[in-house]
This record gives sequence, structure tokens and C-alpha cells, in this order.
Amino acid sequence: MTETQFTPRVFSGIQPSGNLHLGNYLGALKRFVDMQGPEYETVYCMVDLHAITVWQDPDRLREKTREVCAGFIAAGLDPEKSILFNQSQVPEHTQLAWIFNCIARIGWMQRMTQFKDKAGKNTQNASLGLFAYPALMAADILVYHATHVPVGEDQKQHLELTRDIAIKFNHDYGIDFFPVTEPVIGGPAPRVMNLRDGSRKMSSSDPSDMTRINMTDDADAIAKKIRKAKTDPDALPSEVEGLESRPEARNLVNIYAALNDQTAGQVLSEVGGKQFGEFKPMLAELAVEKLSPISSEMARLMGEEAEIDQILARGAERARAIAAPILQQTYEIVGMVGAGKS
Ligand code: TYM
Repeated sequence: MTETQFTPRVFSGIQPSGNLHLGNYLGALKRFVDMQGPEYETVYCMVDLHAITVWQDPDRLREKTREVCAGFIAAGLDPEKSILFNQSQVPEHTQLAWIFNCIARIGWMQRMTQFKDKAGKNTQNASLGLFAYPALMAADILVYHATHVPVGEDQKQHLELTRDIAIKFNHDYGIDFFPVTEPVIGGPAPRVMNLRDGSRKMSSSDPSDMTRINMTDDADAIAKKIRKAKTDPDALPSEVEGLESRPEARNLVNIYAALNDQTAGQVLSEVGGKQFGEFKPMLAELAVEKLSPISSEMARLMGEEAEIDQILARGAERARAIAAPILQQTYEIVGMVGAGKS
């Protein structure tokens, strides 16, 4: 096999299945914005086909897809610089996913912790789509030959599987065709935790709204949720080591650091020794300062439905221009008649 050079290209996606929350923002969206620039071509997707692996009300799905798009733009993604679209409008994703269903092994899928978490106890009753989800995710990435995928820490296992699929495809067909994609997991808050329980991640599916900060929350709601966040009775340490076995304290410090583009160590050198009674109002003020402009711009854009739909349609066209030839080549490699070559 010869070493292939791939264009540096970023791909990532967010499910439009619930409220965009601070975990999505710090673990993913803010980092999507950081990667937008001359170094990479950036492709970002609202993964509506992933969302329906668990039941979604159709009207709500439409609304949430537009809301996530509004969130992308409000957070700083420029639809001229980045390609923004919803997954269902680029059919090459599902076409490549079928090929990957035939590459991936059932045993690989059975190891996926997200499947186990989402399917719950009754795995026999989960949708087949939920089980096959990681093969579609691999197709999302590899149909663009994406080289870099910024995600939160919870997606690490899916990205390892994406690499396994690329390696097995390349090996089975004896060709260096799909890149072995780099997960880009980083920043001070790759795993933002639940505000009421530092052992669980912040998630849109938690029944209690007090456990998360939504990107649509107003200043009062943000301040209230931070004030009521679970903490411990001790003062903040001056060094990161002092946060060990203090998950709630660590979470709030990491959130502060990520919002303020600092490291946790830098934050602690400034706030070490303070009690939470003093630190929480500082964090609330910072969160409101950083998030309010995004939530008000999101609200404005949500009133411009036609504009959002146009951005998504244009994004899908641009995405297809990249994905279609890669799918064609895949079909040729696999041996589909009519795929170009003889
Ligand atoms: P999803 O929709 O659950 O989450 C979107 C992004 O937000 C990150 N994230 C978090 N980061 C830090 N702390 C948290 N508490 C937190 N919660 C969510 C996720 O890691 C993710 O980056 N399978 C993916 C969507 C997807 C995808 C893709 C991602 C489909 N195809 C291709 C990358 C590339 C998912 O369900 O993310």
C-alpha cells in the first residue's frame, strides 16, 4: 500500500435530539469554531438520522435541527467558511454506512458503551438503527475523508471504531483509501459533568433541567443553576492535584477554564483558597458574559426560518460535492457495476 496524502479536513456532528447544552458547547461547538480557519476545510452536521435511532416527534425534530443550526452560527461558525448541513440531505452518508455495516463486526458493536447506556436493560427492544449507529457515524466522517474529528470525550470509543472500520476496509480491499482519522479530544472540559452529580456527564436526556445549562437559558436561569450546583464544603485548592476526588469542584473549575480560554491550573492560581460562596458568582458572571450573546443570537436566528433552511440547503449541496466522488470511488473499489470503471 502506498501512503496517501489526505486534505486536512474537519468533520463533526451534533444530534438535534434535545437542548444544546454547555457540554455540547465546551466539548464540541466552541472547538468547532476554533478549528474554522485556513488550516482546515470544516464540515459540520446536524445528524438528524442519528437522532431517530430513538423516537423523535417529527415537528420537534424539525425545530431542533434548525435550533442546532442557529446555535452553530450564533457560536461563531460562518456558513461561508464552514459547510453546515443536516445529514439526511446528503444521502451518501447512508449509502456508505451500508458498506460499513458489511465491514464492521457484530462483536465490535456489542462493545459500544453508548449502545448499552441508551438501550438500557431491554436491548432486544432497541432499534436496529441504535445498534448500527457507529457504522453510520464512521460513514459520516469517512465519506469526506475527514482527517480530524473534534468531539467530547464520550465519543472516543466511536472514533476508535471509525479507525477500525477504515483499517479493515483498507486491509480487505488492499488499498490505502480511507484515512485513519485523528480524534481531537481536548480543551479543559472534554467531559462536562452534571451540575447535581459530578459522577455523571451533563446530558440533554437527564429529566432534571437543573443538572445542565442550556444554550437557550437566560441570565437568571444560568445564575440559579450555578448557585444550586452541588459542591463540597472545602475551599478551592491552589493546584490541580487538589481537585482529585472532588468531582464537582473539578467540574466547575474546568467549566470556568474552558469558558475563559485558560487551563484549570491558571484558574486555580487565581482563585485557590476561595470558598464556593465567592467562586460561584464569579463563574455565573463569566458564563452569562460568554453565553448570553450566543443565546440571544440563537433566538434571533430562530425567527429567520427561511434563512436557516437556505443555509442548510446550500451546505448540503457543498457537502455532496465532496461526498459523491468518494462514494463513487468506494463503489468502484467494492466492485459495483456502473460505478465508473469497468
Ligand atoms: P452528541 O449529539 O451526543 O453530542 C455532540 C457533541 O457534544 C459532545 N458532548 C459533550 N462534551 C463534553 N461534555 C459533555 N457532557 C458532552 N455531552 C456531549 C459530544 O462528545 C459530541 O462531540 N455520535 C455523536 C454525533 C455524531 C458525530 C458524528 C460526531 C454523529 N456522527 C461524526 C462526530 C463525527 C453524538 O451523539 O454526539
